[in-house]
Amino acid sequence: MRLSASEAIAALFEHHPRGERRAVAVGDLLIRAAAPSAGDWWGCFTVKRSGARLFGDGFRTGDLGRAFFRDQARRGHILIVENATGRRLGFVIVVREGGELELQNIYMRYEASGRGVGRLMMDGVLAFAAKIAASRVTLLTSGTAPWNRRWYESVGFRRWPIGVAMPRYLYQAHREEVRRLGVQRSPHARARIVMARPSS
Ligand SMILES: CC(C)(COP(=O)(O)OP(=O)(O)OC[C@H]1O[C@@H](n2cnc3c(N)ncnc32)[C@H](O)[C@@H]1OP(=O)(O)O)[C@@H](O)C(=O)NCCC(=O)NCCS
Repeated sequence: MRLSASEAIAALFEHHPRGERRAVAVGDLLIRAAAPSAGDWWGCFTVKRSGARLFGDGFRTGDLGRAFFRDQARRGHILIVENATGRRLGFVIVVREGGELELQNIYMRYEASGRGVGRLMMDGVLAFAAKIAASRVTLLTSGTAPWNRRWYESVGFRRWPIGVAMPRYLYQAHREEVRRLGVQRSPHARARIVMARPSS
């Protein structure tokens, strides 16, 4: 049986205790599980800072906690996408929260965005969520970037409805982000969006 690209990417998210090299080639892209190394951590942080340019002036990227990165990489929950020369173009980090899956980070390098690579990675995340029967996938993002919200909507995410209580992990993460960005005055803080997508 041949796996689709998204199923093959989804399989990379699983923990492989013996640490064998796990990678999938899609065209001239290579998608691989991140190593819990300083090199991959710094490489992803650099991508994150580049991708965050999308959010506009005055937006400060949250740092990519090194201990957090190492733990998620050990679980197999971080994937990196590279081009044929080995340059990191983007990465995703997922976190399992009870029966839900939080998409903690999905970032494409600014100059590599808009070519379908983010969509490829997102399809892998959604296939992984289906595989582990997650009840939903959640994320936090910013409404200050021009196409961001619509991009998530195009793959089935919807803004968290007003008046409906959020799971605690999501509420706390949202509050921390708003606080970090500077609660009242920052348009970036006001534009924070919580989104969720039921798993199919
Ligand atoms: C959101 C993101 C991951 C999308 O990845 P991507 O590889 O750029 O997206 P794709 O190429 O797969 O999707 C293309 C769509 O994105 C939009 N888009 C991407 N780049 C664009 C650009 N430069 N100009 C206009 N629209 C653009 C368009 O809507 C496009 O749809 P179309 O092809 O039908 O016009 C990426 O832009 C990014 O890193 N954003 C910031 C990260 C973020 O939001 N993080 C927080 C959540 S964890």
